[in-house]
Amino acid sequence: MSVWAVLAAAGRGERLETDRPKAFAQLNGRPLLAESLQRLEASAWIDSIVVVAPPGWEEPVILLAEELGCGKVVASVAGGESRAASVRIGVGEVADDAAVILVHDAARPLVSELVVERLLGALNEGWDGAVPGLGLPDTVKRVREGAVVETLPRGELRGVQTPQAFVATVLRAAVAGGDEATDCSSLVEARGGRVTVVEGDPRLLKVTTADDLALVESWLGGSSSDAP
Ligand code: CTP
Ligand code: MG
Repeated sequence: MSVWAVLAAAGRGERLETDRPKAFAQLNGRPLLAESLQRLEASAWIDSIVVVAPPGWEEPVILLAEELGCGKVVASVAGGESRAASVRIGVGEVADDAAVILVHDAARPLVSELVVERLLGALNEGWDGAVPGLGLPDTVKRVREGAVVETLPRGELRGVQTPQAFVATVLRAAVAGGDEATDCSSLVEARGGRVTVVEGDPRLLKVTTADDLALVESWLGGSSSDAP
């Protein structure tokens, strides 16, 4: 069973407000992308990696992969205008005989082998897709024009992260439609795919702002007691 990873790294990182795309913002003195790339490379479950690069940064991605000794990287392709478009481009680079495609955001540097194992375990049980999720500590309300219109049943809600793993044929069909979505799972769900949620990881925080970057940096460099 061959497992391919598509690493979505093509975003501009506007909210990070740096002079370069977010994937190349500095985390502990190296590009943010290096962290997830190295972790996916080290995974015993992943065979090949496609990086979806910020347009114009395809070559620096290849150089970074070489520098890190990431021999599983088989392609670096320019992304599109949206995350969904970038993922579609990345999935297009995956070999026809791939059994599973795992899609991950470079913006979540701390991907772990444990989460990858949980996702692939769920696919092994017969699910079309698996996503990592965490329960929500806060009460969640739907608000319109400042007025609360509904309090949602928190027990049923999950904050969903990446990596997200799918049977390759299922993901290919889901992205082919060209629809926009903030994650891959929703495209699969919309086509009737059966997706399960496995336990996520608070360390899979998505780096959006400079504060997030500093927090992840402290987890990497600080003592283990700093970690969530
Ligand atoms: N992404 C992508 N192609 C895009 C937009 C986003 O591959 N056109 C990727 C990002 O690189 C990131 C992930 O999707 O790994 C999640 O996106 P987000 O956190 O919003 O990153 P950016 O779009 O780069 O940040 P911003 O929205 O602040 O510009
Ligand atoms: Mg964005």
